[in-house]
Amino acid sequence: MTDLSTTYMGLKLKSPIIVASSSLTGSIDKVRKCAEAGAGAVVLKSLFEEQIAAETAEMSKQAEEYQGYSEAYDYLQGYGMELGPRQYLELISGAKKAVDIPIIASLNCAAGGHWAEYAVKLERAGADGIELNISLMPTHSGQEGQEIIDSYLRIFHEVKAQVSIPVAVKVGPYFTSFANFVDRLTHDRNEAPAYSVGWLGKDKDLGEITWDGADGLVLFNRFYKLDIDIDNKKLIHGHPYSSSEELSYTLRWISLLAGKAGCNLVANTGIHDGHDAIKALLAGATAVQVCSTLFLNGLESIRAMEKQIVEWMEKNGYTSLSDFRGLLSQIRSEHPEDYERWQYVKLFVGME
Ligand SMILES: Cc1cc2nc3c(=O)[nH]c(=O)nc-3n(C[C@H](O)[C@H](O)[C@H](O)COP(=O)(O)O)c2cc1C
Repeated sequence: MTDLSTTYMGLKLKSPIIVASSSLTGSIDKVRKCAEAGAGAVVLKSLFEEQIAAETAEMSKQAEEYQGYSEAYDYLQGYGMELGPRQYLELISGAKKAVDIPIIASLNCAAGGHWAEYAVKLERAGADGIELNISLMPTHSGQEGQEIIDSYLRIFHEVKAQVSIPVAVKVGPYFTSFANFVDRLTHDRNEAPAYSVGWLGKDKDLGEITWDGADGLVLFNRFYKLDIDIDNKKLIHGHPYSSSEELSYTLRWISLLAGKAGCNLVANTGIHDGHDAIKALLAGATAVQVCSTLFLNGLESIRAMEKQIVEWMEKNGYTSLSDFRGLLSQIRSEHPEDYERWQYVKLFVGME
């Protein structure tokens, strides 16, 4: 009997296919449909940090903290959002009652701060885990790379210190020293970090805080694509959906980090069918997250992916995912240098 079950951040999943955060998981009914379609878990549509901040009582204090994010702040103040923080808690508790697969809440983080206390409410509402979508745009020329990395770590620790459920971090692919960042993010530390931990340090004795590393890492978020309309000379949306060709970068880093990062790795961006998922598992992923293929081909593609994985496993004599997970990770390779080939060098000699 072929077994597709896996354990992600301590959560038991009957399938490694997780529905990624998006409007596909934005209501109880949609979550139910994902579960019926065979998903191993769902990551709920993200709640934005600014939404939480906008709903707290300390508006003026928050406004100060949100300097630089004023446009989003004004928007939220003026119009509200389709799914506010209170509705988000109802979504979590309703989804938990409706399905028996793990429900992972998602927070989109921009700066860190007091809003992180809200994570406790997500836990109380029944979330099995939290995924922090941290994406900081490094546009300020005065800001050093180290400061940006510290901001990622600070946001993570501010949330992690509040809750006992597992916390994963979802990041994009643009880092200067990614292996170093992952090392600092995913391994437990005994001492308070050297960087400021914001309000957390003011309200609590730092010695009381457990500096646990991330429980999961989602590689990689796919950012909004900007494009330019040359006829009307204006900015337009780029293509919203990925393709399988985008999987390569994800495979590279999953295979490089598998067995070295201090947590489970989940592959994301460019997984469109079962064969893409098998590649990610061979590289060392614990599970995969899918979004574009579900928008393009419907939720039924979850079962189709699972069928492809099972057929491939049967053909290769595997009965569980652990039989082949990480088989093609760098740490298990006799040729680790192959994973670090960056330039084409000789490959295209004679082809140009
Ligand atoms: C329409 C749409 C909405 C999305 N909304 C969110 C979101 O709220 N939070 C989030 O973390 N990612 C969001 N994403 C990103 C996806 O979760 C996923 O990381 C990305 O699409 C890459 O996976 P894919 O190649 O399977 O599409 C969204 C993607 C799309 C296409």
